[in-house]
Amino acid sequence: MAGNHDTIWAALSSAIRDRSKGQGVIAPVPKDVRLDSKVCLVTGASSGLGKAVAVALAARGGRVLLACRPGHTGLAEDISALSGSRQVKLCEVDIADLDSVAALCEQLKNDATRIDIAVLNAGLMPREARKSAQGFELMFAVHFLANRLLAERMIRDGVLAAAGDEAVRSRLIFVSSEAHRSSPPIDFEQFARFTPYGLKDGMKHYSVSKLHLTTYARALARRLGDDFAVHALCPGPVNSNMAREAPWFLKPLVLPIMRGFFLSPEKAAEAVLYLACSEDAGARTGIYLHMMREKAVAPLAEDESNGRHLIERSDALLTNYL
Ligand SMILES: NC(=O)c1ccc[n+]([C@@H]2O[C@H](COP(=O)([O-])OP(=O)(O)OC[C@H]3O[C@@H](n4cnc5c(N)ncnc54)[C@H](OP(=O)(O)O)[C@@H]3O)[C@@H](O)[C@H]2O)c1
Repeated sequence: MAGNHDTIWAALSSAIRDRSKGQGVIAPVPKDVRLDSKVCLVTGASSGLGKAVAVALAARGGRVLLACRPGHTGLAEDISALSGSRQVKLCEVDIADLDSVAALCEQLKNDATRIDIAVLNAGLMPREARKSAQGFELMFAVHFLANRLLAERMIRDGVLAAAGDEAVRSRLIFVSSEAHRSSPPIDFEQFARFTPYGLKDGMKHYSVSKLHLTTYARALARRLGDDFAVHALCPGPVNSNMAREAPWFLKPLVLPIMRGFFLSPEKAAEAVLYLACSEDAGARTGIYLHMMREKAVAPLAEDESNGRHLIERSDALLTNYL
């Protein structure tokens, strides 16, 4: 059953409960499964889950593009050292800015890059409502709009390959969250409208943004059929930098809980690696994992009419970009 993620405390205790149930339904992909000659893109690879995923993909022989905000000097060298691979490259992008995302897409197209595995992982939990470069609420922009733009431009431009005689179909993996289950339905009347919020309601807006993303992932998987492998997941509670914006008076409580009870980024990365490397996830589409368990997404995210509405309403926001 869904945990309640309405407040930060409810999310933390639900995360601890989930963690204590353990993992184990799906076995991790064996270490000898290699990704030699595969090209992988990981957004938000500078920290936490994304960094662990980038290291693991590189260690298996993948050529890894680190799609990160400017300013992460030395990151490629760091990931090279951790993975023992020199096939790691940094591409700068601000996922909160659609112009920057479009520029990355243009660069990938112009360089004739073919990506076999795209892990769209970048995420955040702001302390209070902030606007993206185009004036959208930041989590709506980063968790949903930018991921939609990135996914659809890469597909349109042939950067992600559809199944074909010669091509092995690409895998597209969205890092979502179980918090999507606690979201109220998407408010299509107020769609994309910026609403100020503070610390108390941050978790609710996080859940809403992840419901947008999970609904989109299901709609895209349905729309693309067997041409691509489109998957989503919640990595479970991860001891990452996600609480970086927590206020000073909460950090002494939250950080020890994260350190003591949450999964290490490397352990949490196993679910992403399953979707990225396993034969099963390469042969199917539309898998949703919560840690290493396959689950159905929340009914609101599965609902086809919600998916259609979400695509239609966000089309209008992306007309200059898609
Ligand atoms: N931690 C958890 O318990 C948990 C649970 C469920 C789901 N998740 C999801 O897992 C994903 C990874 O989060 P994490 O826990 O690993 O947190 P994290 O350590 O804070 O990593 C977040 C990553 O996203 C990047 N990012 C944020 N805004 C960006 C932007 N505008 N442009 C480019 N990159 C941006 C960050 O880059 P900078 O370093 O430049 O800020 C960082 O690399 C997120 O989607 C999160 O929602 C996390």
